[in-house]
Amino acid sequence: MEEFDFENRIVSPTEIMGENDSDNPLRPRTLHDYIGQEKAKQNLAVFMEAARQRHESLDHVLLYGPPGLGKTTLSGIIANEMNVNLRITSGPAIEKPGDLAAILTNLNEGDVLFIDEIHRISRAVEEILYPAMEDFAIDIVTGKGQMAASYHLPLPHFTLVGATTRAGQLTAPLRDRFGVCLRLELYTPEELARIICRSAGILNIAIEQEGALEIASRSRGTPRIANRMLKRVRDFAQVLSNGVITLSTARTALERLEVDELGLDANDRRMLTALVKFYRGGPVGLETLAAAIGEEAVTIEDVIEPYLMQIGFLNRTPRGRCITRAACLHLGFEVPDAAEGQIRFE
Ligand code: ADE
Repeated sequence: MEEFDFENRIVSPTEIMGENDSDNPLRPRTLHDYIGQEKAKQNLAVFMEAARQRHESLDHVLLYGPPGLGKTTLSGIIANEMNVNLRITSGPAIEKPGDLAAILTNLNEGDVLFIDEIHRISRAVEEILYPAMEDFAIDIVTGKGQMAASYHLPLPHFTLVGATTRAGQLTAPLRDRFGVCLRLELYTPEELARIICRSAGILNIAIEQEGALEIASRSRGTPRIANRMLKRVRDFAQVLSNGVITLSTARTALERLEVDELGLDANDRRMLTALVKFYRGGPVGLETLAAAIGEEAVTIEDVIEPYLMQIGFLNRTPRGRCITRAACLHLGFEVPDAAEGQIRFE
């Protein structure tokens, strides 16, 4: 069976080169310009205002949710609104405790340290993080044997912003050290349309409301995908039409890009097809399904499933994954008995 190519598809929520640059002009710089995530935004605004009034650094923040929803963007907004520097790194990039010690000792008072994929830091690094987060200090041991010496090094009061696709992947002691936990949710098509119109304005792209909503409804709840599609649809509008993104140019472009009305691409369809053809629509265990389509279980869980569940195409049951009636109807499959009895939301 052909392998999934998750990184290069237009609907991949993981970033591709350039999208994550801190000078990306599409990134909002203030909470006011950040669209959607109303609950997280409102609470964060209160916590930041309170910290500012007390002249304190903001408590450590954990951001969790599917990829592409703006975790890095939010950390930049926090730094900007607190008027401090932002330092960005990631779990896999911090290889040794010494790497983290070097980053921490170079921070200034109040700075934001953003650690992406924080669930991937090693145990040894995590041990350094505990006292750093709790007491703003680290203990460093140098030398060996008789030459060994230990130093207690105070750190500036910094704010750690950790990002992860699932909070459950963190160890309990690490999770407990975050004072603020914010869950980011997939965006509604209306919110995505507002993001697309904002981005179009910044990039000088002419777009009609219906065109924006068409791109939005195929962007799988994810701003990163919406912005990427906007740029590709613009290319089609420019070359094949008069440069204005209308409903019709958006539809033509997205058809050419093989993204269907709901934002499913060939890979989503292949997974749902395997579920129907090999397992009669389920239930089937995640690992079994992953092996059948040659992909890692975590990729399926973090990257594909959130959207399929949001649109009511997939159910996670204690006995495994099940396709829904709505998914079968959308894909033109006969509805298997297992899917026929399910609660429907449409
Ligand atoms: N670009 C990416 N995410 C965004 C958001 N939530 N609001 C505004 N612009 C964005």
